[in-house]
Amino acid sequence: MLHTPHRGHFITFEGLDGSGKSTHMERLAGVLRERGLEVIATREPGGTAIGERIRAILLDSRTQGLAPLSELALMFASRAQQISELIQPALNRGAWVLCDRYTDSSEAYQGAGRKLGVETVFTLHRVLCLGLQPDLTLMLDNDVAASVARARRRNENASGSDENRFEQENRAFFERVHQQFLTIAHREPGRVALIDTRRPQDAVHREIVDIVHQRLLKDQA
Ligand code: TYD
Repeated sequence: MLHTPHRGHFITFEGLDGSGKSTHMERLAGVLRERGLEVIATREPGGTAIGERIRAILLDSRTQGLAPLSELALMFASRAQQISELIQPALNRGAWVLCDRYTDSSEAYQGAGRKLGVETVFTLHRVLCLGLQPDLTLMLDNDVAASVARARRRNENASGSDENRFEQENRAFFERVHQQFLTIAHREPGRVALIDTRRPQDAVHREIVDIVHQRLLKDQA
């Protein structure tokens, strides 16, 4: 692994569109801040001024004809910027970084969904992210149909920016994405916690706090 060791903690949230990642990330950030910890909450694609411009290209449904490899390259361009500008400096000074999506999303959406293959994604991760891996990934699992319906409803109600490009994909695409998320969770149980979100939001939140406590907070004062 190339990246430099750090003093902070890096937690990512993964799952299908509409799986409730952003809500749970905000709630966890609140719990950690109450303990007096410095928390940086961010998202991908995006998170920096440059990354948010890349996000607009990637998610706007008016973006037509984007080649799958260009899509993958832009995901990693945003990520490399965010690691350099935000994530690595925050980890170096001991902060907690919570990120809504990271390389697992590229493996699931571009590697499996777009069928670019996971090896391509791993190679880009090694080169462009210097191998930086989360200490913990909270993988929020839900039914494909429920997730996609929720994401579509949310985006229909959102005013202003149009972030629908991925939601227009077909069911088979999201089945491949979902399957790859499960594969990642089973492949790396030491890093990834699989969380069933087909339960009331508070129960899911409590499980998330327990996992973070068990895996990362227990040994801190
Ligand atoms: P996000 O803002 O998390 O959307 P949602 O709240 O609907 O889950 O992610 C935006 C979209 O970008 C989402 O459809 C997944 C996609 N994406 C990829 O395809 N590859 C990636 O590497 C990342 C980070 C996101």
